[in-house]
Amino acid sequence: MRQEFSRISKINGELNLPGDKSVSHRSVMFSALAKGKSTVYNCLQSEDLHATINAFRLMGCNIKEEGSTIFIEGRGFKGLQKPEKELDFMNSGTTTRLMSGILSAQDFESTIIGDASLSKRPMKRVIDPLTQMGAIIKSTGEGFLPMTIYPSANLHPVEYRLPVASAQVKSAVLLAGIHLDEKTTIIEDIPTRNHTENLLGLDVKVEGTSRIITSLKANYPQAGIYNVPSDISSAAFFIILALLTPNSELKLNSILLNETRTGILQVLRMMGAEIIEENVQIRSGEKTGDLIIKSSKLKNVEIPAELIPNIIDEIPILSVAGIFAEGDFEVRGAEELRHKESDRIKTVCDNFNKVGIAVDEYSDGFKLSGNAKGKSALFESFTDHRIAMAFSVFSLLNKDGGIVEGFEACAVSNPDFLEQVKQIVI
Ligand code: S3P
Repeated sequence: MRQEFSRISKINGELNLPGDKSVSHRSVMFSALAKGKSTVYNCLQSEDLHATINAFRLMGCNIKEEGSTIFIEGRGFKGLQKPEKELDFMNSGTTTRLMSGILSAQDFESTIIGDASLSKRPMKRVIDPLTQMGAIIKSTGEGFLPMTIYPSANLHPVEYRLPVASAQVKSAVLLAGIHLDEKTTIIEDIPTRNHTENLLGLDVKVEGTSRIITSLKANYPQAGIYNVPSDISSAAFFIILALLTPNSELKLNSILLNETRTGILQVLRMMGAEIIEENVQIRSGEKTGDLIIKSSKLKNVEIPAELIPNIIDEIPILSVAGIFAEGDFEVRGAEELRHKESDRIKTVCDNFNKVGIAVDEYSDGFKLSGNAKGKSALFESFTDHRIAMAFSVFSLLNKDGGIVEGFEACAVSNPDFLEQVKQIVI
């Protein structure tokens, strides 16, 4: 589906954005694993979340959805049932990698499939450590879906140092670990999002720049209430839209402000953005607060290498901010972008190539120089939600607007993106 945008002149108002995708997935998973009734408030309702919810329904969980409130009757330790058919995780890398850890510890066989994009994403990164733990996993080719996980009589703890900075890999290992009596240990040299640790209350020790995280059966989740803060990654599109629209002010309510996710605010502030935090509090173990964003003049800066994992999902929209900021925009050390819902180095560069910007593509990033000439273009989402929304924002800021082909990809993380835009444009 093609969506056309013309340039907006002013933004004003406030938005309640949907629940954070990472926290929503984990809240549903932990509720389904726990014994008894849990409730997840402000759960993201999107295609990715439905992949997780449907999987647990297929494994015998009773799950009722009332808007963004999800009532889940969890099955308790080893209480999940063998799914009658393949588990289709659609476009969701988080579901696939986290569930691989959970499924490796079950007493039944399960097969995971996904859409064309997910079937091209590397699963070897979870297969390797889980196999070291004694899991039995058969994948396609060099670690791709479809993938079958067999029951293992020999699942045991490991100590695993993450070779890639990935919260999904970390979580897969720790979630297999909560099924074992002895401690499983993850060593993380570069911090990644820590929602699994926060929500399960895992033991985390800091040693120099590394973190040592352990999980064991004592950390198995209990039924309870989860309040999911609004998604900072979805907020990033609106933050940048408001910053770059003259005479604008926008309030975003109850946004997730976990430090492993707020790198985007750090970088934008370094660029000169005026973003105020209010009403900051801890809700369900996660820092949450309102954000007030005022139009600002931005200047490109060197992005600190250690922040890359923190801002990895926001790089496509950050590059849009970079185009309208003074100076060249450059990102390096972000090879992981090549393994997301699309190869985001290539898909960002391909789209910017259409608007007269000088683009240098590197194996681990890209550089954008010069200004957009203002002419409209037909952008491609490459069936990637964050590319669809990033180039929608670019089109809303561009003199002659723009068109996004494959706009429906937004439904993966924010099906109401267009309505939210309409709500704040005056
Ligand atoms: C996620 C971790 C990140 C991120 C993804 C969500 C998570 O992926 O890009 O959108 O919820 O754990 P990686 O672990 O592959 O970096």
